[in-house]
Amino acid sequence: MDIPALRWLDPPGGPAIELLDQRRLPAEEAVVTCADVPALVDAIRHLVVRGAPLLGVAGAFGVALAASRGDDVAQAAAAIGQARPTAVNLGWGTSRALAAYQRAARAGATDRERIAARAALAEARLIAAEDAAASAAMALHGLGLIPQNARILTHCNTGALVSAGAGTAFAVVLAAHRAGRLAMLWVDETRPLLQGARLTAYEARRAGMPHAVLADAAAASLLAAGEVDVVLTGADRIAADGSIANKVGTYGLAVLASYHRVPFVVVAPTSTIDPGTPDGAAIVVEHRPAAEVTSFHGRPAAPAGTSAYNPAFDITPPGLVTAVVTERGVAQPVTAGTLLVLGAGSTACEIPPADIYVER
Ligand code: MRU
Repeated sequence: MDIPALRWLDPPGGPAIELLDQRRLPAEEAVVTCADVPALVDAIRHLVVRGAPLLGVAGAFGVALAASRGDDVAQAAAAIGQARPTAVNLGWGTSRALAAYQRAARAGATDRERIAARAALAEARLIAAEDAAASAAMALHGLGLIPQNARILTHCNTGALVSAGAGTAFAVVLAAHRAGRLAMLWVDETRPLLQGARLTAYEARRAGMPHAVLADAAAASLLAAGEVDVVLTGADRIAADGSIANKVGTYGLAVLASYHRVPFVVVAPTSTIDPGTPDGAAIVVEHRPAAEVTSFHGRPAAPAGTSAYNPAFDITPPGLVTAVVTERGVAQPVTAGTLLVLGAGSTACEIPPADIYVER
């Protein structure tokens, strides 16, 4: 990426978060600069910044931004954490930065606000560094599940646009490509917002890997034709029982993969595992505006006034998931027990923070 997905800016006029505007890709690489928390919340809601791991990073930097401005930090953290409900990383990253801020505020004697703001920023940088390290570890663990001459089918967008590193499922695809194992990446277009066609194809092209986009509905016949060796997706939240919330269409793919006896592998950092959510039924699925389905590129795709069913995510039961790849190892089979062994939440990491974190 020429422009990083997220960047912390610290000019004399005061800090800001710069986001690569993912709504405008692939046509244009433009940025949105968020100078306050309402602007960041708006950017999250409108998918300027998106994808579970990067939402965690963005949430943490949002807390640092609020602290540096002298805003009510707890209130700002609540607003950011509630901007989208399904990706657990958003609340997780936001809470971690808030806790760091509050700890420092309690401990600091003089200059309490400034010290607490610096603590929040340091935590955000640590979260970004951990995410980059997790990407690299997931790529290594996931590569072990990829055969020679692999034809991989993926859904949504899971690369450097959603992470401070190489991403989740796409990081494994990239590792396979670099290891000479990738014969083809099949990219689901990912209706209705085309994260696959717009973003994954953009990343695949830049990486120089063989790829082709397909309409989501074509995945069934592709699998039936024996053209897929493994399905790889990311996750927005993994419940304690191993149920996977991910971009709508993932569940359908998992059913198809099971029918055609093709491995269905989920790649996600342990920060996406949520022990506080017992099962799939307890996961809150975000429903988005009807216009995302009833229009296309701003033009009507259905008669005026048509209502729509537009869940942004669906839930795949653990029985359909061959393995969950995390930075700590692989859960296979996917059960409450195997996930528990891997643990949840982020590990401390040795990578020293840099000034600009999400640059690649
Ligand atoms: O609505 P989005 O674009 O934020 O949804 C993103 C996904 O569903 C990804 O597959 C997910 O976050 C997992 S990996 C980044």
